[in-house]
Amino acid sequence: MSLHKAIIGGTGVYESGTPERVERVSTPYGTVELDVVRHHGEEIAFLARHGKGHSVPPHRINYRANLKALQQLGVTHILATAAVGSLNPEFRPGDLVLVSDFLDGTRGRPSTFFDGEHGEVRHVNLEEPYCPRLNSRFAETAEALGIPVHGRGVYVCTEGPRFETPAEIRMFRQWGASLVGMTNVPEVVLAKELGLCYAAVGLVVNMASGMESTPITLEEIRQALEGCRDRATRICLELFRAPQDQQHCACAHAVMGL
Ligand code: HPA
Repeated sequence: MSLHKAIIGGTGVYESGTPERVERVSTPYGTVELDVVRHHGEEIAFLARHGKGHSVPPHRINYRANLKALQQLGVTHILATAAVGSLNPEFRPGDLVLVSDFLDGTRGRPSTFFDGEHGEVRHVNLEEPYCPRLNSRFAETAEALGIPVHGRGVYVCTEGPRFETPAEIRMFRQWGASLVGMTNVPEVVLAKELGLCYAAVGLVVNMASGMESTPITLEEIRQALEGCRDRATRICLELFRAPQDQQHCACAHAVMGL
């Protein structure tokens, strides 16, 4: 049976129900293990981005294998969670923010499926990096559940695993970023290269470096995650109760061959 929907769980989001089975998917980029959960009769693939037990740091995640594995299973719609720092004084720890655009501050990660194999040069159109239809459905579902979600987060992805300096955060703010994390690039790009609908919700776990006079602590991050991960998972599962169809969605046609 083919699976159409997937949740990629980031830091702190390691499950979304009791797995019905475990899938080991072999791809040209490596093997990926993920859970399949059943929610109101719907099968949903659940992939822990950092591996089970949070063992893979952000810069070493095999993003290409993860996305390819989901595509091979038949997945067309992905909802991802990502722990983030906030650069916007209105986005507080414990808040959820839908991501609408990104800035790429990563260095040297394998970040494309279009490596010139078969003598082909291809480019992906990122005018709408995150699926606008999934984003609207996410906002509507959250509202129906009475869960507040901020919209229009601009996510700057850093290489990590270190956190940023205050000067870097000041620069990112000037560039227009409101969230900082270490994983959404290349994940969102690879999803688009495969023609998949992808949306991401940021779980604000700290104010970014230098935003406040108090230091960032692990305890603060843990508490904030504890406070928002169940809300994020509830919205994802509720959204996926409805059938998703990709007809008329531009995500499936974003690749340009020149
Ligand atoms: N910086 C980068 N990544 C993060 C942060 C941060 O402040 N918080 C959670 N992930």
